[in-house]
Amino acid sequence: MRVGVLTGGGDCPGLNAVIRGIVRKGTQEYGYDFVGFRDGWRGPLEGNTLPLGIPAVRGILPRGGTILGSSRTNPFKEEDGVRRIKETLAKQEVEALITIGGEDTLGVAARLYEEHGVPCVGVPKTIDNDLSATDYTFGFDTAVGVATEAIDRLHTTAESHMRVLVVEVMGRHAGWIALHSGLAGGANVILIPEQRFDVGQVCAWIDSRFKASYAPIVVVAEGAMPKDGEMVLKDGSTDSFGHVRLSGVGEWLAKEIEARTGKEARTTVLGHTQRGGTPSAFDRWLATRFGLHAIDAVRDADYGKMVALRGTDIVRVPLSDATAKLKTVDPALYAEVGVFFG
Ligand code: F6P
Repeated sequence: MRVGVLTGGGDCPGLNAVIRGIVRKGTQEYGYDFVGFRDGWRGPLEGNTLPLGIPAVRGILPRGGTILGSSRTNPFKEEDGVRRIKETLAKQEVEALITIGGEDTLGVAARLYEEHGVPCVGVPKTIDNDLSATDYTFGFDTAVGVATEAIDRLHTTAESHMRVLVVEVMGRHAGWIALHSGLAGGANVILIPEQRFDVGQVCAWIDSRFKASYAPIVVVAEGAMPKDGEMVLKDGSTDSFGHVRLSGVGEWLAKEIEARTGKEARTTVLGHTQRGGTPSAFDRWLATRFGLHAIDAVRDADYGKMVALRGTDIVRVPLSDATAKLKTVDPALYAEVGVFFG
């Protein structure tokens, strides 16, 4: 049996650990052969492959990124996309396809399975941790670690200059990275996409922090929005799934803070540092287990499913669940951390 593997969407620490888990167990225990498709859905669309066997996955466990490459290609937006994918799979004699991705990549896999009978198994990934079908996605823990370390470092420079430091973190629809890193790093204000923020209230928290003779750290998710205003966009451009490019709210907020409080404010945008580099131990553990369970789903011919973490168990859920509902921060949880604001 020949199994295809691809990684799609934004990269994420732990992707290589998943690939290694799939290939090691699939080769050693089930005697399968593997083929890698390059750059997400672009690989099967263009017939672009690379050999995938145990030698190819040696040493990749701690490496960030993905040895397969990634892209945000949407085959449903390409001419004859489905036919071209099916042709490539037939030519490569691929009998099952493991797709590792977020809501967009897995959404394509779900449609290919349901509408066109392509035997897909999904593995969820996103640093944003916003897929409701799984308790956690790998990559999130690493991103929170990077952001927490940055906040720790920003405290000392903020105190030295007694200025406001705004830290913009990733989080398009959900504020999980902002919430976890903000709490772990002792931020004085945390702003998330789920709740519009009042700039006046943010400035009041900043003033109270300065009154206590400390410099404030504001953590803002890139998708956070002011109460009276719009989402701050980079340049209005979109990807092939229609998502606009974010980033800019941190810079915007620092200017507002300066104008309203008269205090100096600077912004640090963590951007792709949160996605790059070596995965944390937790992410390696979770990603590896996802890989092992994904190849088990292939062995069971349990297609149209995605592996997911529930408590400490890995379970299988319908692929369509990956995109059914976003996992956002509960207002009660956000309220819980509010005791540290100001
Ligand atoms: O979905 C993960 C994510 O990291 C989002 O938080 C962010 O908006 C997006 O990817 C940015 O991705 P890119 O810069 O690759 O377009």
